[in-house]
Parts: sequence; C-alpha cells; structure tokens
Amino acid sequence: MQSNLVCKVTNQPAPGLHVGIIMDGNGRWGTLRGLTRTQGHEAGVEAVRRTVAAAPFLGIDTLTLFAFSSDNWKRPRPEVDGMMRLIEHYVARETEPFIAAGIRLTVIGRRDRLSSRVVGTIENVERETAPGTRLNVRIAIDYSGRHAILEAALRAVRCGAVDEASFSEQLAAGSGYRDVDLVIRTSGEQRLSGFLPWEATYAELHFCKKLWPDFTGEDLALAVSDFRSRDRRFGGLSIATQSLQGNSHATQTDALAGKIISPGLQSSANCF
Ligand code: FPP
Repeated sequence: MQSNLVCKVTNQPAPGLHVGIIMDGNGRWGTLRGLTRTQGHEAGVEAVRRTVAAAPFLGIDTLTLFAFSSDNWKRPRPEVDGMMRLIEHYVARETEPFIAAGIRLTVIGRRDRLSSRVVGTIENVERETAPGTRLNVRIAIDYSGRHAILEAALRAVRCGAVDEASFSEQLAAGSGYRDVDLVIRTSGEQRLSGFLPWEATYAELHFCKKLWPDFTGEDLALAVSDFRSRDRRFGGLSIATQSLQGNSHATQTDALAGKIISPGLQSSANCF
C-alpha cells in the first residue's frame, strides 16, 4: 500500500468505517482465462488478502466480506466443495498472521449446515483472534440477510428486548455490530443480493466494474474516496443547508461525513 492515492486518503482525519464487500466475478474471471470457476475463486482469495492488508490504512475498522451466500448451495457440488475448502484454508492460514497484526476474524451466517470441521476451524480462529482491535474482518458464510433478521427477531423476542439497539446486537450474534457505511460490489452488477439488509440501511453504494480477482488496495482506496465525497444526511439536512438556515448545531461527526477527500481522488475508469 505504497501508492500516493492511499497515502492521500490515509492523511485525512477519518472515523472508523464499516465497509461491506460483495466479491462478485470470480467465476467469470476464471472462465475468461480458460480456467475453472474454482480457480477463479482461488484468485479471489488473493484479492481478499490485498483488501484486508489495505483496509486499516484507509480508516476502515470493520470489513464484512460476502464469501458464501445461502443461495450458493444451488451451485454444482464440486464448486461448492471448492469454495468451502478455500474458505476453510484461508481462515486456518490467516489465524497466526491475524493475531500478529491485531486483526480479529469473526464469521456471520448459519453454521448448522457447515461441516463440523469448518465450524471447528471457525470457532478456533474466532477465539484466537478475539483480542484484535486494529480491524474486525467479518466473513459472511451461508449468509442470507432475511434469514439473519428472522433468527435475530426470534432471539430478541425470547430475550424480551425488542428495540433497535438490542435487535442489532442479536443480529451481530457476538461478531461486533456496526452499521455499514459503504457497500462495494465488483463485476459491474448493481444489486445487493440479500447482503446486510438491516446493517446497510443507510450505506452508500459503490459499484466497481472490475471482476473480484482483479480488485486491489488501490480500488478500495478509490471506493473510500468516493464514499468521502458523498453528502450523508441520514434523513436530515446537509451541512450547507443547515448553515443557510442559521443552524449552528452541526456536529464534528457531520463535518467528517462531508467532503474531506481531495476531489482529484474521485475518478476511475473502472469504478462508478
Ligand atoms: C461471486 O463470484 C463470488 C462468490 C460467491 C464467492 C467469493 C469467494 C471468494 C472470494 C473466495 C473465498 C473467500 C474468502 C473470504 C477466503 P461468482 O462465482 O458468482 O462469479 P460470477 O458472477 O462471475 O459467476
């Protein structure tokens, strides 16, 4: 992460961001090269490594990666097995480096349909990396936003605590709840596919044309830069409008949510 682009973004006084990524295009990436779809997923793991390495330098403190949707079980068995194997190897192999780097790894999604070996690997990495505070990497496996909401609602009712804050805690199921600030989807597709419907209610959306295996730390920096240029009003008024109205109560958070990144960082041939 030596590029000027990243350094320029890093120099800004950024609050911790929660970025969610729909890592789309592995299969096409493989097919375009005469490789198997599973080889596309393998290349996708390298893009995951680049993204995790770049995230802390961009003011990101929570990164949620959509690795396996509940709908992905519909894929051919060899591809499903290949994806599970890759995820398991990644989780197991990153445990020591993550501990050393102060990175916490947690998994969201259903566990009752995963193999006991995968569940054991997940539980181990979650335990070992729990003290990490530099970055929380949340991997969504067998994840469906609708199912997550139903499960959380049942737990919240059982606990007798049905307000937004306690429901959000139930939804995170111990993985650390944060509203999502920015959702990135690669490969040119422009839909959410059931990704974090509650958490991303006010998220900014960034669509990147690159296929996921080609995604780099620079692309992540561009997405964050694009995010910084957005006027997030959360149903209220922009800072400029508040000033015109003579409202002197704009907070520092409002200011940080405004345009704090140089406009020169906002263009990219591949991202829009
Ligand atoms: C979507 O591309 C990608 C996925 C469903 C899986 C993403 C998985 C990885 C990046 C590898 C493992 C992840 C981790 C966190 C280690 P697609 O297969 O739908 O591609 P296509 O749209 O071109 O067919």
